Amino acid sequence: MTETDTQTDTQTETQTGTISFPQNRTCPYHPPTGYPSASRGQQSVSRVRLFDGRPVWLVTGHAEARALLVDPRLSSDRENPAFPFFAPRLAETSRRRVELFGLDDPEHNVQRRMLIPSFTVRRAAALRPSIQEIVDRLLDAMAEQGPPAELVNAFALPVPSMVICALLGVPYADHEFFEVQSRKLLRGPAASDVDAAREALDEYFRTLIERKRRDPGEGLLDELIAKQLETGAVDLDELVRLAQILLVAGHETTANMISLGTLTLLQHPHQLALMREGAAGMASVVEELLRFLSIADGISRVAVEDIEVNGVTIRAGDGVLLSASVINRDEAVYPSPDELDLGRDARNHVAFGFGIHQCLGQNLARAELEIALPALFGRLPGLRPAVPAEEIPFKPGDTVQGLLELPVTW
Ligand code: HEM
Repeated sequence: MTETDTQTDTQTETQTGTISFPQNRTCPYHPPTGYPSASRGQQSVSRVRLFDGRPVWLVTGHAEARALLVDPRLSSDRENPAFPFFAPRLAETSRRRVELFGLDDPEHNVQRRMLIPSFTVRRAAALRPSIQEIVDRLLDAMAEQGPPAELVNAFALPVPSMVICALLGVPYADHEFFEVQSRKLLRGPAASDVDAAREALDEYFRTLIERKRRDPGEGLLDELIAKQLETGAVDLDELVRLAQILLVAGHETTANMISLGTLTLLQHPHQLALMREGAAGMASVVEELLRFLSIADGISRVAVEDIEVNGVTIRAGDGVLLSASVINRDEAVYPSPDELDLGRDARNHVAFGFGIHQCLGQNLARAELEIALPALFGRLPGLRPAVPAEEIPFKPGDTVQGLLELPVTW
């Protein structure tokens, strides 16, 4: 089959809605090859099918995505029976209110405003010395132990775990417990695993909050207890669910960026050299990696009114999915989009989403990446994968994208 045949097939599939979503990546840092793409002349808003055969809209154009993500006619409400879940375990799990992520304005805005002061650029900057200390300590331990090592568990996961624990005021001694639970929450595999993980985390935070009420400490959770719980602005159940969201959102995503970012740089030695020489500043390196890797690939919404976009009508009740990986490779915005180019202006990507739900932790995530990546390559200059690339396991398409393991040596 020629490339043109394949394109024609995909185009027909786009029109009839037989393309499935999500699909697994074939390379951990490129979008799945089967997704439609405006850069290949396909529609930027097209029909795809979920695992259960339900047709939903897939948005792959940058301009369309940014317009839709600020459109209040699209809802994030997971309790809406038409909300599109893209994995059976998520659809089958007991539907319950999801704080912040799953709320629409004005309710969403009340919670967001409560949290904003803890996630400003200034707050993230103030955390930099602690992040550097955490990173250095983990690299010391790796260097002391000597090669080989498994980078996800030795470095990529503990960095954001320790940072979010410190930010929230959660004892790091409990990290194994909540890392296991958040993995289950995000990846199942069964709906019962997701439910069980939620319950275990609920129980954990309920006990922790009660303990902190009696014996306050330092951290965001303590602040929320004092300013929001004790004043009656939120109740205990809401605070428990909020804490859970922050903990899970704050470590799995950043961990994937660190491990997949490391592999991507190792596989692009010329770009890595630019980073090492300082020819590309860390802020621009991190922005390009965020664009290129687009690890949160499948932002979900449900239409609550009809919406006309690019010649199609999204009807009230239709599910809408936005593929960040394809949107961030839109040729109209990023020339040679499939090339990693650390010197480019990668701003305006949607790796953190866009609009009212745009990632609250983005300043913190950037700070962690800007510190962790150069420290890792600086401390272990001979860093390289310890196994051939095809043996490095990565995550399936129905969850946050990243590596399951990254065996390294130096
Ligand atoms: C590189 C790492 C990260 C990536 C790629 C990422 C990605 C995203 C994306 C795409 C959204 C939007 C979801 C939507 O529109 O439905 C989001 C929202 C959010 N993220 Fe992140 N995130 C990262 C790190 C973090 C960190 C470190 C935190 C810290 C706690 C965090 C907390 C949140 C929260 C609370 C929201 C919901 C905001 C709202 O609904 O108003 N994220 N993130």
